[in-house]
Amino acid sequence: MFSPQPIGHIKSPYDNTKQIPKGPGAKHEAEGILEILPQFALGLTDIEGFSHLFVIWVFDRSEDYELLGTPPVDDRPHGVFATRSPRRPNPIGLTVVELLRRDGNSLHVRGLDMLDGTPILDLKPYLSSIPAEQIRRGWLAEAEARRAHPSPA
Ligand SMILES: C[S@@+](CC[C@H](N)C(=O)[O-])C[C@H]1O[C@@H](n2cnc3c(N)ncnc32)[C@H](O)[C@@H]1O
Repeated sequence: MFSPQPIGHIKSPYDNTKQIPKGPGAKHEAEGILEILPQFALGLTDIEGFSHLFVIWVFDRSEDYELLGTPPVDDRPHGVFATRSPRRPNPIGLTVVELLRRDGNSLHVRGLDMLDGTPILDLKPYLSSIPAEQIRRGWLAEAEARRAHPSPA
């Protein structure tokens, strides 16, 4: 194994998890900055050409983990690996952001769902070759359908 070290930190408008949109229909449109440490700046070469990035980061303010939990979009429990819960055995987050512009070591982005100061582990260009119609959304699609058409009590 390896000892992860942050390549930078996130400047986000959120300093409290309650401020971050959650639950059905939540949209992540917050803007902020990925501040990359100077010693890793060379690694940003040619990143400007990509519209979206995967940000791999640390849930640094999560404590402990839960293998089965009930996410805010459902009233039924699901396995942690079938959710995007912050309470995971390895507290690693993955968010797709839109790259608005680069200013030296600072990447201005839209679509944040992390707290201010969150450590960044890695960045990768967002590429997906999977057609939308081939993607199955599992329990999430079922929860959305139940919410749209509640069964009579
Ligand atoms: C549901 S998780 C999804 C994160 C990411 N998109 C993913 O799929 O891995 C997002 C939530 O994590 C929590 N969170 C954000 N930043 C955090 C941090 N640095 N430490 C702990 N929890 C954090 C907030 O409650 C936020 O609403």
